[in-house]
Amino acid sequence: MLDRPSHLEAAVSQANAANERTPEELLRIIFDYTAKIGGERNLKSVLLLMANMGREMIMADRCTVWLIDHAKEELFTTIAHGVNEIRAPFGKGFVGHSVQTGEPLLIEDAYSDPRHNAENDRRTGYRTKSVITVPFVGNDGTIIGAYQAINKLTPQAVFTHSDLEHLKLAASYAGKSLESVILHEEIVATQREIITVMGEIGESRSKETGNHVKRVAEYSYILAIGYGLPVEEAELLKMVSPMHDIGKVAIPDAVLLKPGKLTEEEFEQMKQHTDIGYHLLKGSSRELLRTAAIVAYQHHEKWNGKGYPRGLSGEEIHLYGRITAIADVFDALGSDRVYKKAWELERILKLFKEERGQHFDPKLVDVLMEQLPAILDIRDRFRDV
Ligand code: C2E
Ligand code: SIN
Ligand code: SIN
Ligand code: SIN
Ligand code: FE
Ligand code: FE
Repeated sequence: MLDRPSHLEAAVSQANAANERTPEELLRIIFDYTAKIGGERNLKSVLLLMANMGREMIMADRCTVWLIDHAKEELFTTIAHGVNEIRAPFGKGFVGHSVQTGEPLLIEDAYSDPRHNAENDRRTGYRTKSVITVPFVGNDGTIIGAYQAINKLTPQAVFTHSDLEHLKLAASYAGKSLESVILHEEIVATQREIITVMGEIGESRSKETGNHVKRVAEYSYILAIGYGLPVEEAELLKMVSPMHDIGKVAIPDAVLLKPGKLTEEEFEQMKQHTDIGYHLLKGSSRELLRTAAIVAYQHHEKWNGKGYPRGLSGEEIHLYGRITAIADVFDALGSDRVYKKAWELERILKLFKEERGQHFDPKLVDVLMEQLPAILDIRDRFRDV
């Protein structure tokens, strides 16, 4: 249950005299909230601020912001006063009506209206009486969701036409911010998906399973946290590490899929997957893709300077490159490849001990050993079939 702000309680007693906000109060609420909403990037926060704004403007007991989930043909809300996430079938209830027709509604007594969907009341034991619903319209005119306010807190207990007008105002001010936050979230989600798919393309060319990229992602996350990086950075690395081999898309099958050992010349060709990946990604202005470019470029560098393509050493190699190197080799050794069988765990650990301070950052090898139970748990969960 969300706490009701004390000034709202004050408003309730004040409302014995007035059933509505004064114009000054309304302006203050709108200015305060629209400034906060405009600075928010997080959808949940925007929905909460919008719900609070609507509730304060019209002195409602509850206010909920509903969004349309087109894929599932449902309405959903992540934030509602006094309730956790709710989903409702598209087209049901007053909200459903507003969202489908674009018409706002002002209902004095929900139970005397056939459109009322009493399911939520039955589930929560709450008694809905007066309801306002106002649709949100996006920049292109399509409906993206709706405000729903329930039960006026004043003794009159019924919403007025001015309340409806005020909530329309709130919807038109906050609706623009809402749409831009939704777009932003969609863009981020799309970027993540593209990155995973691109990583999988790189891997499928070399006939490795999609689970390889998932394991490398999870291993990288565990190593990053174990090294002491903040969660946000570990999550960033988890998203980009699957792209380390994206440059393999440009390596000919004859080399990439050769069942036996590569000749020196073929290996030189193979090494180019690092430069190719880097050049594919480095031009992006997106942080995610620029970070992926670093990992693609540096995942075959070695701590002792004997790696490729540039022969960087020690901390010249970006931390993300050093982490991905361990995640990648740990997984490559434990997996069948066209040119080799999977190694036993004992042999893999022996190699990491030998290569501690040679191929790999010694501190990160220590983290690998410390985090081995978590790493092996991932290996089991994302086993190749
Ligand atoms: P990959 O198979 O995914 O291997 C990634 C890295 O894991 C390798 O980078 C290497 O550091 C380590 N690794 C994998 N298998 C072994 C192994 O049997 N012994 C040891 N000591 N380390 C191993 P590297 O060597 O730079 O190779 C990069 C990529 O080049 C490999 O990715 C693979 O796609 C290809 N490749 C390397 N050697 C051969 C080969 O003999 N035949 C074929 N067909 N491809 C090879
Ligand atoms: C509705 O009919 O839109 C639902 C009202 C409620 O939540 O009780
Ligand atoms: C980081 O970006 O967190 C570390 C950079 C580095 O030293 O490789
Ligand atoms: C992999 O396929 O993940 C490892 C190959 C490489 O890093 O070049
Ligand atoms: Fe590679
Ligand atoms: Fe890989």
